[in-house]
Amino acid sequence: MKTDIEHYGEDYQRFLGAIAPPIFEASNFAFSSYEEVEEYQKGEIDKFVYTRGGNPTIKILEAKIAMLEKGEACRAFSSGMGAITSSILSLVRSGDHILCLRGVYNPTYEFISNYLNRFNVSSTFVDGRDLEAIKSAIRPNTKLIYLESPNSFLFEVFDLRAIARIAKENGIYTVIDNTWATPYFQNPIEYGIDIVVHSASKYLGGHSDVVAGLVITNRELMNGINRELHLLGGVIGPFEAWLVLRGLRSLPARMEMHQSNAMKIARFLDEHPRVIKVNYPGLPTNPYHQLAVSQLRGFSGLMSFELDGGEKELRKFIDSLKLFTIAVSWGGYESLVFPGKYGFSKDRADGVILSPQLVRMSVGLESADDLIEDLDNALKEAFS
Ligand SMILES: Cc1ncc(COP(=O)(O)O)c(C=O)c1O
Repeated sequence: MKTDIEHYGEDYQRFLGAIAPPIFEASNFAFSSYEEVEEYQKGEIDKFVYTRGGNPTIKILEAKIAMLEKGEACRAFSSGMGAITSSILSLVRSGDHILCLRGVYNPTYEFISNYLNRFNVSSTFVDGRDLEAIKSAIRPNTKLIYLESPNSFLFEVFDLRAIARIAKENGIYTVIDNTWATPYFQNPIEYGIDIVVHSASKYLGGHSDVVAGLVITNRELMNGINRELHLLGGVIGPFEAWLVLRGLRSLPARMEMHQSNAMKIARFLDEHPRVIKVNYPGLPTNPYHQLAVSQLRGFSGLMSFELDGGEKELRKFIDSLKLFTIAVSWGGYESLVFPGKYGFSKDRADGVILSPQLVRMSVGLESADDLIEDLDNALKEAFS
């Protein structure tokens, strides 16, 4: 898999032997003759015409990601939200219903629970750990089940094989946000999930310098997604596609190190007397660990934990950290923290209640020993 990430989809001969894929920063591509226009219009030839429809740099990225996610086709978007909303819109019509498993990223929640109401698309939120609850929430007009696994605040893991089976038995599509795991650690299509979406702004880009999204599915469902991309216009720029391509070259090395750093830090926090709970499915003591190892090949670096204190201690802890930067997003080199309560709307209908003392942490690629020392010192400060 490692070598595939680096070389798949790159044709050196086509690009004058360039070892790094070139950035085709062009909006449009010339036809050589009137006849070529005719041939293109009749569908007799395939060529690049306009970057919203396709671009050589973007195509290399799409080929690599389709291969990595074991899907037939991939399209790249200008953001993860572009990928998520276009995927959902490609499947629903007025009068349809969406079943969403709890704990999804807040803007995704907003889109499904509120925004889609204006198009008469309704939704129900269920606890994805309860397969019977999923079955009984399915209605005759349910069109799709949407989920994240692990989800990105509580890191609950859902049974992908069982959920895909339930969906197929009921003629329903499944869409998963696989941003946390990346295709390096999890391939949901192997378990029967229909559409995989990613925010490439996290681990795939990997350097906190690009916002991008990806959708991977079969050719048939991609026809609908292509239409959304063409009409809504959320296309990725060639330079952004190139940044993600550059990130992919080091994805295996980075993910291995995110995992080993995160595991050491999760263990440290788990044993700390001032930490009530660590939400990280990589820990053998985590309630989702067994299910997680049955469907994930590894664990990334995003987790959350609850401090044994109040608002005062939380503030002091976060402000005392020296190596962890206070910022949203995740998946880059730098370790980050953010108060969990600000990432979620207060009155979400999906029943997820976040502790006011929850800290979300993206473990980066710095020395794990230094990060642990920083956490240890900040915990001492907070509770002194
Ligand atoms: C789990 C998850 N999915 C999707 C997104 C949205 O991605 P983007 O910010 O690239 O639109 C995010 C962003 O934070 C996320 O955390």
